[in-house]
Amino acid sequence: MRKKIPIAEPDLKGNELKYVTKCIRTNWISSNGSYVPEFGEKFAKYCGVKHGIPVSNGTVALHLALLAFDIGPGDEVLIPGLTFAATANAVLYVGAKPVFLEVDRFNWCLDPKGIEKKISKRTKAIIPVHLYGHPVNMPAIMKIARKYKIFVIEDAAEAHGALVNGKKVGSFGEMSCFSFFGNKTITTGEGGMVVTNDKKLAEKVKYLRDGARDRAVSLYYHAQLGYNYALTNLQAAVGLAQLERINKFISRKRKIAEIYKKTFKGFDKIEFSPEEKWARSTYWMSSIVLTDKSKASRDRLIHRLSEANIETRPFFYPIYKLPYINHKIRLPVVDYLASNGLNLPSGVTLTEKEALYVARTVMNILS
Ligand SMILES: Cc1ncc(COP(=O)(O)O)c(C=O)c1O
Repeated sequence: MRKKIPIAEPDLKGNELKYVTKCIRTNWISSNGSYVPEFGEKFAKYCGVKHGIPVSNGTVALHLALLAFDIGPGDEVLIPGLTFAATANAVLYVGAKPVFLEVDRFNWCLDPKGIEKKISKRTKAIIPVHLYGHPVNMPAIMKIARKYKIFVIEDAAEAHGALVNGKKVGSFGEMSCFSFFGNKTITTGEGGMVVTNDKKLAEKVKYLRDGARDRAVSLYYHAQLGYNYALTNLQAAVGLAQLERINKFISRKRKIAEIYKKTFKGFDKIEFSPEEKWARSTYWMSSIVLTDKSKASRDRLIHRLSEANIETRPFFYPIYKLPYINHKIRLPVVDYLASNGLNLPSGVTLTEKEALYVARTVMNILS
């Protein structure tokens, strides 16, 4: 029987073992090791940004970014309706209100057209999410943010290395957040990063991450409520080794997307992951959306693919409908994509033969 084709598996065959071994041999396994700041600096440089603060995951990266802007109760934060729950959860952690926005029908990311009418006196920030590796139209977002004086925190958890007009995601907003979870473009197992050009914000994020200590007073003097959101040296060791090969990983993902796109060409029952002319997607997840003409339901397709040993994921559930959020609004594009979209196997270890098998199986099932 064919072995299961995973949705996304990491490739840890570079210097990961060597750097982790060094941590063990030198006894530096906690967050105090030197790989942690080195990973921060190198990843920030990769993004074209001055400062990088490694943290324990992408969710807390968003939490810290919101805290650093003093966003809290009474404030509103604009986010897309189609994203991973963490984007909304971070807003709820600080006691602010997430306000959900519609996404673009073509590129599936936050639609700049709908933003202005959702801005109120309480709006403090917007979190554009670069969904599944495709970047948001950042120049349009930045223009609106400047006009209304609201902060921009990019959620780039899924799009390391994606470009907008040749400029990296993570370098547009005042702060940007990344995830290094096991299925991400580069991974540290669990892990995350806040990047920013602003030294003061970088210091504040680091201070809050490290328990809000004021060491000038005393080693154990915590000037306010802080957090322990540190990344370990072991994780940073893996991250550094992964970062050495990030361009190779992205090329591989683009190659996989190209195979899917070519195979699906002319097949009108699905639309494949978009790529705007101004964008360079990393295709973190090669994805398809079943079109109106299709009779097959998405969940049935997922089930049939699973029977063929192909692992997939449905698109995110519309987060504004989650029971603990439950906003009584309508976002028809979000709803349509959420119920008809799925991510195909997209990992860097996927072979060309496997990608072809996946694409042909999808077409057979839907035909
Ligand atoms: C869009 C988005 N934001 C935030 C996160 C949170 O990252 P983490 O899982 O590292 O907490 C994820 C991760 O899966 C994500 O996809």
